[in-house]
Amino acid sequence: MSQISVDLTGKVAFITGGGSGIGRGFCLQMASSGAAVVVTDLNGQAAEGVAAEITAAGGDALALTVDVTDAAALEFAVEFAIARFDHIDFLFANAGVLGPADYLDIAPADWDLVLDVNIKGVALTCRALAPHMMARRQGRILMTASYNGVRAGAHVIPYRVSKAAVLMYTRCLAMVMAPYGVTVNAICPGVTLTPMQLSYAEATAAEQGLTREQYLAERAGRIPMQQFTAIEDLTGLAQFLVSDSARLITGQAIAPDGGVMTSS
Ligand SMILES: NC(=O)c1ccc[n+]([C@@H]2O[C@H](COP(=O)([O-])OP(=O)(O)OC[C@H]3O[C@@H](n4cnc5c(N)ncnc54)[C@H](O)[C@@H]3O)[C@@H](O)[C@H]2O)c1
Repeated sequence: MSQISVDLTGKVAFITGGGSGIGRGFCLQMASSGAAVVVTDLNGQAAEGVAAEITAAGGDALALTVDVTDAAALEFAVEFAIARFDHIDFLFANAGVLGPADYLDIAPADWDLVLDVNIKGVALTCRALAPHMMARRQGRILMTASYNGVRAGAHVIPYRVSKAAVLMYTRCLAMVMAPYGVTVNAICPGVTLTPMQLSYAEATAAEQGLTREQYLAERAGRIPMQQFTAIEDLTGLAQFLVSDSARLITGQAIAPDGGVMTSS
């Protein structure tokens, strides 16, 4: 797949949930374009692994264990990263959890987890970094939202609600940051075969008496363009959104999803 090429030498990216799946893809792509990368994740070992991949390829990375529901940990991580790299240009508020698939009997603790990580965690992450970007009067903030924040459905309801909130938060924060020259946008991945999506596929396949491969073939068939989203579809969009070409794009939700978000 040919990718948009952007030189990010001298730039610094701070990425939550960077230890796996889409976040890992953002980390590796930013690094291969020349940016230094602050790889943060609740799973510190996973963050270390991604940072090691970057440094082995000649890039610059710092791994930090950060739970996005912990405001103090986020503030410390931002301070630590600025002490190391002097500044942060790009924030990827990417960490997320799927939560329960059930439609009605959702335990209070499950509501708390999904909303705490997926929307409060996003807001706390931005709260920790936004003042730095405002002071520099530059920066790019990218949220990882989802088509599930737009499309209604009878399952993964807390997840859908949390991602709908991320879309509204993106638009509100865009208004806050606009006078400071900082853009805020949401990337809405389509069905992307990360550990999160594959464990959901396995559980759903078992429920329906299908093999994982049968379920995935059926799932791909329900996508208007009949293709899953590749990590490169998301990293290519991110490259564009942090580039000078996107300097006036703000408050938008863009979905490299083969038409899933648009379809009913
Ligand atoms: N995979 C898809 O099909 C898909 C589709 C739409 C949106 N998304 C979104 O993309 C983002 C990344 O998901 P993914 O598919 O790569 O999943 P993933 O499970 O592979 O990665 C998620 C990462 O977030 C981390 N994380 C979880 N809770 C955290 C917390 N409290 N603090 C910090 N880190 C935490 C995990 O440790 C993990 O490394 C999520 O926001 C998800 O909702 C994914």
